[in-house]
Amino acid sequence: MKMRKVVSVVGAGNVGEHTASLLALRGLVDVRMFDLPRKDGERTIEPVKGKALDIQQMLSALDIDGKVEGYTVGLEGEGYEALDGSDIVVITAGFPRKPGMSREDLLDRNISILSTISKKIKEYAPEAIVVVVTNPVDLMTYAVYRILGFDKSKVMGMAGVLDSARFKTFISKEIGISPKDVHAYVIGGHGDEMVPLISISNVGGIPLKDMLPKEKIQELIKRTQFGGGEIVDLMGTSAYHAPAASIVEMIEAIVTDNKRIMPCSVYLEGDVGEYYEAPGLCVGVPVKLGNCGMEEVIKIPMIEEERDMWRRSVNSVRKNIALVEEMLNARSTL
Ligand code: NAI
Ligand code: 2OP
Repeated sequence: MKMRKVVSVVGAGNVGEHTASLLALRGLVDVRMFDLPRKDGERTIEPVKGKALDIQQMLSALDIDGKVEGYTVGLEGEGYEALDGSDIVVITAGFPRKPGMSREDLLDRNISILSTISKKIKEYAPEAIVVVVTNPVDLMTYAVYRILGFDKSKVMGMAGVLDSARFKTFISKEIGISPKDVHAYVIGGHGDEMVPLISISNVGGIPLKDMLPKEKIQELIKRTQFGGGEIVDLMGTSAYHAPAASIVEMIEAIVTDNKRIMPCSVYLEGDVGEYYEAPGLCVGVPVKLGNCGMEEVIKIPMIEEERDMWRRSVNSVRKNIALVEEMLNARSTL
């Protein structure tokens, strides 16, 4: 009988590798990693197997129990049998941004990769909860949700936890108070028009707007909205420590059934689709996470100014949905 939950991480690059490592360090789950082989001169090497072995040995060094395995897969979807038995699958495969690129520039290349991977998840792990990370994440989550045909509670994109962590970091540094006592949510699409919610942000229970002048808050909002780009400009590739930690927080909430509220990109319809004026889209909203995945979409109050920002953010996701549908149809993925 399988005792521990299994989390599979597809794509063991910067984000995937750090996610696998952090998950293993938490000791909560067994981890399986999947990635392509690589050429090293004449030789074909299998970095994913080496990374898994290295993480496994790290666990021994730290006296932590857990199983970490690496699997080399092919571009056409070969080698995914080991997804079988996964409780959660995290998708971090695909191209990251380089300086000057928007997340949308990645759409065409990454949708093709995710189409193949989604079909394999459907084949080998039809009961799994799927966390999409690959950018542009709201569109990718939508594509994966459409291809899988799973219940909407089982497919979610990671971005809001990361964006909120960035916002909390900037607030905490500005005020000089621990991020643990900063409560702030960022919702909306994972793009430059994401929506840091000021009206409900507080530090130790005191409203943020009473702690900082308006201009300073605007500065922190802008820095958060361009937080991903700031790191791309500094590192030449996109962030991976904070993204990996954000994924792990979501997974821990699901595995331990702790019912935390976190902003995640989920498919909106019905009552909440109307409330958020985004039926038929995947966009970041606060949700309750537990054993069943996304267990409830929370209708967070927004003041008029935030509503306007929200609408702009939703529109920037909506404008590309027809393109995603076209790409999926052209690949006969649906
Ligand atoms: P990376 O380039 O370091 O890793 C990507 C990995 O995917 C590579 O190891 C590559 O071999 C693998 N891969 C590519 N095609 C594959 C395929 N067909 N099958 C299996 N594996 C394949 O990139 P990094 O930094 O890890 O970023 C990964 C993705 O996550 C990017 O799209 C990036 O923009 C996105 N991202 C999203 C965030 C979010 O908040 N949603 C935060 C950070 C990154
Ligand atoms: C980030 O926000 C690139 O989406 C990634 O760091």
